[in-house]
Amino acid sequence: MKKMNPKNKNGVKITGTGSYAPPLSVSNDDLAKILDTTDEWVYTRTGIRHRYFNEGRPNYTMAVEAAKNALENAGITAEDIDYIMLSTCTPDFFYPITACLVQNETGALNAACIDINAACTGFVAGLEMARGLLYSGYDRILFIASECLTPQVDFYDRATSVLFGDGAGAVVLERADKTFASVMKAKGVSADEPILYYKIDYEANTPFGGKTPDYAKKLQMGGKDVYKFAVEAMPEAAKAACEKAGFALDEIDLFIPHQANIRIVQTAVKSLGVSMEKVYTNIENHGNTSSACMPVCLDELNRAGRLKEGMKLCLVGFGAGLTYGAIVMEI
Ligand code: UT7
Repeated sequence: MKKMNPKNKNGVKITGTGSYAPPLSVSNDDLAKILDTTDEWVYTRTGIRHRYFNEGRPNYTMAVEAAKNALENAGITAEDIDYIMLSTCTPDFFYPITACLVQNETGALNAACIDINAACTGFVAGLEMARGLLYSGYDRILFIASECLTPQVDFYDRATSVLFGDGAGAVVLERADKTFASVMKAKGVSADEPILYYKIDYEANTPFGGKTPDYAKKLQMGGKDVYKFAVEAMPEAAKAACEKAGFALDEIDLFIPHQANIRIVQTAVKSLGVSMEKVYTNIENHGNTSSACMPVCLDELNRAGRLKEGMKLCLVGFGAGLTYGAIVMEI
């Protein structure tokens, strides 16, 4: 991996953060009423105790709330934004894109809009792309990650349905003379065995093929395969991003990993030789909210006064694809 020129600090600063958790809080005990599971199993295998469901409401409503919170936190109005990027793998529509729905609801009339999808790695991928946009001439980007997984989850499958929650996080980004290094990678999968997926059922709507329209199939996952991939991919990406930034791993002040499973995080962190004290997790309260995990963590840290100027962060994630990557950034 090419090292950066330390003089060339084309980084970003986070000038505001926001997040939104829907009001319905669902505990493991609540899930045990509809599934053959226990709080003990879910907590010891995953570290999750609660998650939030956006039951009956569309994804974009969460994105709008997180966006408004981030704008308020940055002390700017929606009209000050010149680009809205939105990461989601659970959009309400294939089109229009969700960023345009947020634009309409917030009044960000001067913004260009785009959605991106790198599954759970979407925030890392999008942050890298946002940086590119900032250095191509856009001044202020609102980057939101919003995920409504519950409509995709199969509530008859106890191994996957206990993992996921809904939520949204957002950041406002500007150019800054700070170090920023990113490494995005992917390991392609076959369409016959995609490991972690939500698939359109093409056969379900074939009026000339004799089948009546049906619902799309639900989220499917080979949990063990994803687990094995994640515990190798995250350390690999974090090391590569540190190396590219010219920082030793022990110079990183805080790691913010994808909040998929606390055991995945602990194993990855152990293989990096990093102390869990330097790792931020909120999986216990939110579960896995896919690409929204990281900006929600950032907002929690920001509002707790834990993001200090000059800190070095490492954001590291993985997701369906299989995508993975890390960003090392001075804030
Ligand atoms: O953003 C990326 C998202 N994906 C992930 O991060 C998933 C990564 N994988 C994992 O986190 C783990 O593989 C899981 C948490 C999904 C599953 O844990 P596991 O230790 O791999 O369990 P398993 O699938 O091997 O199942 C072990 C046992 C099985 O019972 P038997 O066959 O041994 O009798 C399952 O039926 O646990 C059972 N089981 C459950 N029991 C109670 C599976 N899910 C549950 C459940 N409650 N919710």
